Amino acid sequence: MRLFVAVGVPAHTADELDDAVAPLRESWPGLRWTGRDAWHLTLAFLGEVTEPVCARLEPRLERAAGRHPRLLLSLGGAGAFPGAARARVLWTGVQGEPRALPALARSVAAGALRAGAPPAEEGRRFRPHLTLARCRDPADVQTLVDDLAGWAGTPWTAGEIYLIRSHLPGGRPHDRPRYETLGCWPLAGSPRPGA
Ligand code: 2AM
Repeated sequence: MRLFVAVGVPAHTADELDDAVAPLRESWPGLRWTGRDAWHLTLAFLGEVTEPVCARLEPRLERAAGRHPRLLLSLGGAGAFPGAARARVLWTGVQGEPRALPALARSVAAGALRAGAPPAEEGRRFRPHLTLARCRDPADVQTLVDDLAGWAGTPWTAGEIYLIRSHLPGGRPHDRPRYETLGCWPLAGSPRPGA
């Protein structure tokens, strides 16, 4: 199964972002825009993981989450990978405590490695972002980046991490995936989910 670990985006933040992005979606119908159901901040993309490894992963993620305090985060601005002139991915950025999210991502990656599921992007610099759109062919999205430059969402406190399974309809990487939450673990100082 194809797995990744992420922080969620609360409904009020998704509402704000949806309002900011809606007019842009209409002006740029050629981009593959993500929907609010897919909005998350990836901490580690693990790729294909077997069931036994997934079972070993869960206690490791619980431990990693418990070692980090809750995070004050906010979304704002925009950028593109690999760059705005020939973009593949348009994103909005993550602001807040600059070292805390990368530190959490490192713990998650270390836990995944010990469970036998090394992150697919191991060794690459962690660049916190939320993907807004993907481009079929490299596109110049500078005006979109400029349009979103002044946007900033209301900060929120993230209290848990999620293990998410990505189902690719038809197994094709360019189809819109369906996400299924397999597990959720509290950061230190948060109540257990459902408690
Ligand atoms: P993205 O948002 O930048 O596309 C599920 O695919 C999540 O894992 C997405 O948020 C995606 O990031 C992230 N991810 C990171 N590396 C990936 C990879 N090599 N393939 C697919 N998704 C990846």
